[in-house]
Amino acid sequence: MRKLLFVLLLFITVCAQAESTVFITGSNRGIGLGLVKEYAAHGWRVIATCRTPGSAQELQTFAQANNRIIIEQLDVTDSTEIAALSDKYRDQPIDVLINNAGLLPVDEWNKPLKELDFDYARKVFDVNTFAPVRIMQAFMDHVAASGEKKIVNISSQAGSFANASHEPRRYVYRGSKAALNMFTFDIAYELGQLGITTIALHPGVVHSQTDESFEEAKQRFAGLITVEESAAKIYRTVAGLTPADNGKFFSYEPGRELSW
Ligand SMILES: NC(=O)c1ccc[n+]([C@@H]2O[C@H](COP(=O)([O-])OP(=O)(O)OC[C@H]3O[C@@H](n4cnc5c(N)ncnc54)[C@H](OP(=O)(O)O)[C@@H]3O)[C@@H](O)[C@H]2O)c1
Repeated sequence: MRKLLFVLLLFITVCAQAESTVFITGSNRGIGLGLVKEYAAHGWRVIATCRTPGSAQELQTFAQANNRIIIEQLDVTDSTEIAALSDKYRDQPIDVLINNAGLLPVDEWNKPLKELDFDYARKVFDVNTFAPVRIMQAFMDHVAASGEKKIVNISSQAGSFANASHEPRRYVYRGSKAALNMFTFDIAYELGQLGITTIALHPGVVHSQTDESFEEAKQRFAGLITVEESAAKIYRTVAGLTPADNGKFFSYEPGRELSW
């Protein structure tokens, strides 16, 4: 009997140690919510952050049926909230940190230079560029203490000099993602010394806005994919990362590296 108890205890300890943790920002909708579901389906413990958990209905319902999902309130532009959350999770390893929250300023698209709104531009840069950097700074030790040691900054091929299409006037969005790419490339060197693999990742052209059907939206966006496809392929891409991938830019499609 004592032997059986010992084996059971050993089994529980090994299982507890083997559980990997992912931390995702902007997880109440779109790609972030898709990633929560994908990692949960693979048995991960998910720290799902969003700025207003009270109105994150779908996330709340999903979390109620899965006790490995922890919902945390986080506005990614708020340094005080980031510091408090970092402190709350101190001594807890985070295997994969995904900076997903982002602003897609579609209302600003196509505006000519003379109409560029700098207050709005600052807001977009704060969310798309500085927030991932702040969060990397606050959680690098948690990631360094983990088994997987991976940081994924959800960027966009729209921020790539090599791959961006020639759609005009996406000044603010493209600028914010191009700047995130360079932060990622540059910071990866320092974090690489801690054994962390840091990458930028393009999630695909994703049907994350649900105000029109996938079929309708597909007429307007060539190569449009569903949130589910994006999340499943991001999962596989991230799972396949090795330290040799540090400081690189990847597509959501497994094995496809992008040029900066
Ligand atoms: N969809 C695409 O085709 C596509 C293509 C390339 C790259 N991306 C990138 O993929 C990421 C996710 O995009 P998506 O399509 O899923 O966008 P989405 O559906 O518009 O969702 C954006 C998410 O970011 C959150 N967010 C915005 N500002 C925030 C803040 N200050 N604090 C915390 N959360 C904040 C939103 O939360 P609220 O609900 O509170 O606003 C929401 O959860 C973004 O970084 C985007 O740039 C998307």
